[in-house]
Amino acid sequence: MLNIVIVLAICTAPLAALYWRHYRTHIACRRYCKSNANLEGKTAIITGASSGIGKATALDLARRGAQVILGCCDLQQAQDAAEEIKVRTGNSKVVVRHLDLASLQSVREFARKTIESEERLDILVNNAGVPDVGNENLFTKDNFHLVFGINYFGHFLLTNLLLDLLKKSAPSRVITVASIAHSWETVPLDLTREDLSYKAGDTTVDVGRRPGASQDRARVLYPHLRTYGQSKLAGILFSRELARRLESTGVTSVTVHPGFVNTPIWQYFKCNLSMAVLYYTMWPIMWFLMIDEEAGAQTTLHCALDETVAKLPGRFFANCAVAQTSELARDDEQAQRLWDISCQATGIEERSN
Ligand SMILES: NC(=O)c1ccc[n+]([C@@H]2O[C@H](COP(=O)([O-])OP(=O)(O)OC[C@H]3O[C@@H](n4cnc5c(N)ncnc54)[C@H](OP(=O)(O)O)[C@@H]3O)[C@@H](O)[C@H]2O)c1
Repeated sequence: MLNIVIVLAICTAPLAALYWRHYRTHIACRRYCKSNANLEGKTAIITGASSGIGKATALDLARRGAQVILGCCDLQQAQDAAEEIKVRTGNSKVVVRHLDLASLQSVREFARKTIESEERLDILVNNAGVPDVGNENLFTKDNFHLVFGINYFGHFLLTNLLLDLLKKSAPSRVITVASIAHSWETVPLDLTREDLSYKAGDTTVDVGRRPGASQDRARVLYPHLRTYGQSKLAGILFSRELARRLESTGVTSVTVHPGFVNTPIWQYFKCNLSMAVLYYTMWPIMWFLMIDEEAGAQTTLHCALDETVAKLPGRFFANCAVAQTSELARDDEQAQRLWDISCQATGIEERSN
């Protein structure tokens, strides 16, 4: 018996040590947004705010008195989130507005309604996102790969359409939720618009789950821009270039890595049988390694509210502090090229800002 106990102790000790190290560096030392800013009279938009980090962000901003606009795809889920936020904060200024980032037309419609109805926009949080699990061979209404189209092109257009309102409300902020996953990319983004030799793989995924998704593969635009890591790398390059263009306008653009957060985004891993088996096997371990949604929203809140952030445009934040990006994410030449092709892709006129 004693032998078994000794063997078990020897086997589990390294795992326990690893977990303790992870807990100390990623969970116990989580920083929280220290700002006590009051947001009465201010307006914030958060995309993908019906769940996860976006919902936790909206809840905090509403608690501070802001009018919060939830830009969401699933209207029923968004209404439920809005009701919950109203009850928990006592703030009735929580508005749901339809936004499908997989459709440029929907993004334009959302921006038009916002410009018509709002006098000001103080905080824009580009938060919505999907992983490239189960979505690999799906496309947006405008023929981009779904993951890149939602995570990047949709937010690029949205931000540009709302820029005048943000400038009018300066000092204001644009926070783009990126990820440490940007550093998985080891080669620069291939910005080829149409690659005739490119053939998308066969799809077996039901597109009904994503309202903007399409299986029409007649003409895939920017076929090499498809992965989650690429979309997050693009988000950082975009935010840097935006910051450069917005110098001395009073609008601050930054990006965020929220941490490894327990949100519905992980449900995508149940997309097929083998992934579901992996998901249910790994979930008990993952659960221990992740932070909760409230903790996951803190870096976004820090960037939206802390006064020091206004002096750090274009920077990348993690755990409520400036963090280092990969070298590819610091390539200003590629950031400018990406900006140019994004204008072309989304049909907006290039301007000096
Ligand atoms: N969780 C993590 O560990 C982690 C780590 C690094 C970065 N992030 C990033 O954090 C952000 C928030 O993710 P989360 O973890 O909070 O996951 P989540 O709860 O799944 O939130 C993602 C949100 O995006 C929305 N969304 C998806 N497709 C959309 C579309 N076509 N148009 C508009 N909204 C759409 C979803 O709304 P619907 O359900 O209505 O479609 C959902 O509310 C994402 O950008 C993600 O990449 C998360």
